[in-house]
Amino acid sequence: QKERTLSIIKPDAVSKGIIGAIISRFESSGLLIVSAKMLQLTTDQVLEFYNEHKNKFFFKDLMEFMISGPIFVQILEGNYAIRRNREIMGNTDPMKALAGTIRFDYGESCTKNVIHGSDSESSAKYEIAYFFDI
Ligand code: CMP
Repeated sequence: QKERTLSIIKPDAVSKGIIGAIISRFESSGLLIVSAKMLQLTTDQVLEFYNEHKNKFFFKDLMEFMISGPIFVQILEGNYAIRRNREIMGNTDPMKALAGTIRFDYGESCTKNVIHGSDSESSAKYEIAYFFDI
């Protein structure tokens, strides 16, 4: 079941210089990077991309954090890429993430949690189309 999923390496990870360490984990677990780019989000883009969260209590923090610096966005491809990427990332809350996951190793809080990954086939489609013309 070959799938594609969207991955975002967030501003905390970019400023810590761990893009390479994170990408190595994807590649060594069989997820191929098929496209990638670095950019800085605007408030309008964060509102659009995270629209489902716009009324949540944490949205203000999420907004401030996501516009705070550059992000590194990638399309990952592989067997069951959506689920596998979520396993490698670990729980949204780094305190609840399993040992050995990216968020366990590098996350500081639910907001500063290093990476984003699509959570379903439909969100993967939407999120890939949001950032890439393929
Ligand atoms: P992400 O996978 O990018 O998708 C939505 C983001 O909202 C999530 O990662 C977190 O960064 C943030 N988020 C989700 N739940 C909480 C929470 N309880 N407190 C703070 N931030 C949260």
